[in-house]
Amino acid sequence: MSEIKTIGIAGAGTMGAGIAIVCARSGFKTRVFDLNQDALDRARAQAEGFLRKSVERGKLAAEKLPQIMEAWSGTTKLEDFADCDLVIEAVFESLPVKHDLFGKLDKICGPEAIFASNTSTISITEIAGGSGRPDRFVGMHFCLPAQLMKLVEMSPGLSTSEETLRVPGRFARLWVKSP
Ligand SMILES: NC(=O)c1ccc[n+]([C@@H]2O[C@H](COP(=O)([O-])OP(=O)(O)OC[C@H]3O[C@@H](n4cnc5c(N)ncnc54)[C@H](O)[C@@H]3O)[C@@H](O)[C@H]2O)c1
Repeated sequence: MSEIKTIGIAGAGTMGAGIAIVCARSGFKTRVFDLNQDALDRARAQAEGFLRKSVERGKLAAEKLPQIMEAWSGTTKLEDFADCDLVIEAVFESLPVKHDLFGKLDKICGPEAIFASNTSTISITEIAGGSGRPDRFVGMHFCLPAQLMKLVEMSPGLSTSEETLRVPGRFARLWVKSP
């Protein structure tokens, strides 16, 4: 895995919406998945509002706003993550929910894709155990609000490979975050 172009964000709630802003603003094709269309609509409106304010405050060039929003797409179909190079999960804080999601993603995404969880309290090793690819699984813990906070905690599980820990860390730096 050398290049990450397309990032999938699973869960469009408080954290997923902010993480999606970070990824799209940094130039990545950003797919946002949620079971709930209202959550997707809210996350998109939040991204647009945040970027509009960034333009007003002189922090973002006006012509960038439509480009970033073009890179942001929402979906209720997990199959749309088939070409994602990195998936960052931010669904409910429940091990069975996360296992179910990653089990499905393992069948949908390519074998090279890296999976990351934004969990606050569940062991990365435990979540990775249900992912079908514990070596390509890592913890990426963003702080609230993700679109503003500079810190991303990178935590390996017991089986996370060195490369898996390194690659999203490198991309986190591109997002102007400190891994
Ligand atoms: N809120 C925080 O301050 C914070 C900070 C860091 C990390 N986290 C972690 O981020 C994760 C998400 O937390 P949040 O506060 O954003 O939650 P939230 O309740 O705001 O959002 C969760 C979203 O996930 C969606 N969802 C639930 N199950 C799903 C599934 N199977 N597939 C797709 N979408 C699904 C829900 O519809 C909802 O939109 C949790 O693991 C939490 O521990 C939260």
